[in-house]
Amino acid sequence: MNPISYFYDPLINSIKKSMKVTVVGAGNVGATSADAIAYRRIASEVVLVDIKENYAEGKALDMMQTATTLGFNTRISGSTNDYSKTKDSDVVVITSGVPRKPGMTREELIGVNAGIVKTVTNNILEHSPNAIIVIVSNPMDTMTYLALKESGLPKNRVIGMGGALDSSRFKCYLSLALNKPANDIHGMVIGGHGDTTMIPLTRLATYNGLPVSNFVSNDKLDEVAAATMVGGKTLTGMLGTSAWYAPGASVAYLVDSILNDQKRMIPCSVLLEGEYGLNDICVGVPCIIGKNGVEEIVNVNLNDKEKELMAKSAEAVRNMNAALETISA
Ligand code: 2OP
Repeated sequence: MNPISYFYDPLINSIKKSMKVTVVGAGNVGATSADAIAYRRIASEVVLVDIKENYAEGKALDMMQTATTLGFNTRISGSTNDYSKTKDSDVVVITSGVPRKPGMTREELIGVNAGIVKTVTNNILEHSPNAIIVIVSNPMDTMTYLALKESGLPKNRVIGMGGALDSSRFKCYLSLALNKPANDIHGMVIGGHGDTTMIPLTRLATYNGLPVSNFVSNDKLDEVAAATMVGGKTLTGMLGTSAWYAPGASVAYLVDSILNDQKRMIPCSVLLEGEYGLNDICVGVPCIIGKNGVEEIVNVNLNDKEKELMAKSAEAVRNMNAALETISA
């Protein structure tokens, strides 16, 4: 962040500190993330980077042409793999890599995406040594672990985004099942960001503070949990590729909490050092997210069944992490 740089936002009639976000990967998820960050006026500058010639530049220009109709002043620019344009970013979002196709799991992407995430992390840090890194590329928990190890950054500055997205899907399905407004529903998904590893915390979900089980049957809640776990897979089947609106919005939600020091509690994949009985693994747990990235890991008193699910989830993520060594060997 350039400490003496400010920008004026007439819509909110205030001077805000200049904040720069880089989004690497201008595909569906990356571009939608950039768009949501600009449109919601979370940052003063967004740089989109892609390896495809002119692709990020084209998407950035298209978005810039919405500025007057949508009413934002964020400057969006694109770059074909020129990381010098990302210099002094406060937050960098890594979405690059191949998305999954119908029938594929997120885990099957590890070989290709590991190399990409490694290279991107190094390029980013060369120009933005103080940035907080948000990982979206799949398999997300393993890519977060890889970026953390590769960068040598402190754990608060490498954040995996999956839990924010999975929780938004969980709350969506809950609101549909209860037939209540989505914003009155609260709930979290912890564990790995995988079809069989995520853990929707149904027991703790509420409708304005009241347990959701007061409003729907346990069978219905089991259906909600099951739909949440395959939320991404269902969309991949329908769309032919990975979803983008909910992932992009979840990125913006997380980046907003960092840049505007919101201190929201968001489930994120972060390095655990004894929390939840786990060590040397990045997996989704509730975190307080503010200007320093992960500012606190929140301990939830899990019941025995949830503890067992968490242990299983961690084991699956650990097995995936082990594959990294085979790949880089
Ligand atoms: C999803 O679940 C992109 O992993 C992402 O849609």
